[in-house]
Amino acid sequence: MIVPNIHLMEVRAPDVAEQVQPGQFVIVRGAEGGERIPLSIADWNREAGTLTIVFMEVGLSTGTLARLKAGDSIPTLVGPLGKPTAIANLGPVLCIGGCYGIGSVLPVARAFREAGSEVTVVLEARSRYLIFWEERMRALAKRLIVFTRDGSAGHRGHVTGLPDILKQEGVAPAQVVVNGCTFLLARSSAALAPLGVPITVSLNPIMIDGTGMCGVCRVTVEGQMKFACVDGPDFDGRQVDWPELLNRRKQYIGEETYLCHRASCGRA
Ligand SMILES: Cc1cc2nc3c(=O)[nH]c(=O)nc-3n(C[C@H](O)[C@H](O)[C@H](O)COP(=O)(O)OP(=O)(O)OC[C@H]3O[C@@H](n4cnc5c(N)ncnc54)[C@H](O)[C@@H]3O)c2cc1C
Ligand code: FES
Repeated sequence: MIVPNIHLMEVRAPDVAEQVQPGQFVIVRGAEGGERIPLSIADWNREAGTLTIVFMEVGLSTGTLARLKAGDSIPTLVGPLGKPTAIANLGPVLCIGGCYGIGSVLPVARAFREAGSEVTVVLEARSRYLIFWEERMRALAKRLIVFTRDGSAGHRGHVTGLPDILKQEGVAPAQVVVNGCTFLLARSSAALAPLGVPITVSLNPIMIDGTGMCGVCRVTVEGQMKFACVDGPDFDGRQVDWPELLNRRKQYIGEETYLCHRASCGRA
């Protein structure tokens, strides 16, 4: 556990580590008979054949992963899945990460920096104690901006306050990238739309196969149906139907709560 409720898992998966690109994800099952859940790849070591995954414990499957011990095995890990984030030398680029998205935005920010872009990293968390990898971000970014809702570090509030800060600091990004929970993605897209530049959000609808076959991950972007697992997960946040995505994400909340409760009572 790297900060409360957020875990880092290093998995040996040489075939995936060899091919992974920033912005991609894996589908994982923590136990035989368990559900398949998508998790972003937050880092990798091609030589050692390992992947780093940062996940937040929110329910049954992430709870199963959180209880694994070093040296344990997991039955399923499929990847790398999804289209990599489009990287180029674009001049100033803003990379925003919140909760587990602080992990997955790191390789994206690093790739933009390696391509020659000037990277500003923005981290958002409820409080200072939930921020991780600050030093790693500082090492690669030209500028690090932190928001905490309680004001315990950086600016108090949400990334919605970013446009004013960017103006004060004279930053005019050519591209914005946002990784994290759906609320952060939606809120950032609304707040930063007036900048008039692409806002790449890594969408996180419910997924099952991750290969474009089941249709569970469908989202509406620019009025068209897309499968986030194969057409994304990156889309322009200015074009996403956010109310639909937020509704679809909670469609199994009753079943998820019931199963999690049953498992914690030892009756699963
Ligand atoms: C491409 C992608 C990358 C992701 N990367 C990360 C990551 O790096 N770290 C991280 O902590 N989380 C990530 N998520 C979200 C993660 O998949 C869910 O938090 C996880 O599936 C929850 O499972 P659970 O059983 O623990 O919780 P549940 O109690 O089942 O659900 C809790 C919440 O997670 C959502 N959820 C449930 N099942 C799925 C599913 N199969 N696919 C997507 N969402 C689901 C539900 O809408 C619910 O709101 C990612 C999701 C996607 C689509
Ligand atoms: S997860 Fe099945 S089509 Fe995308």
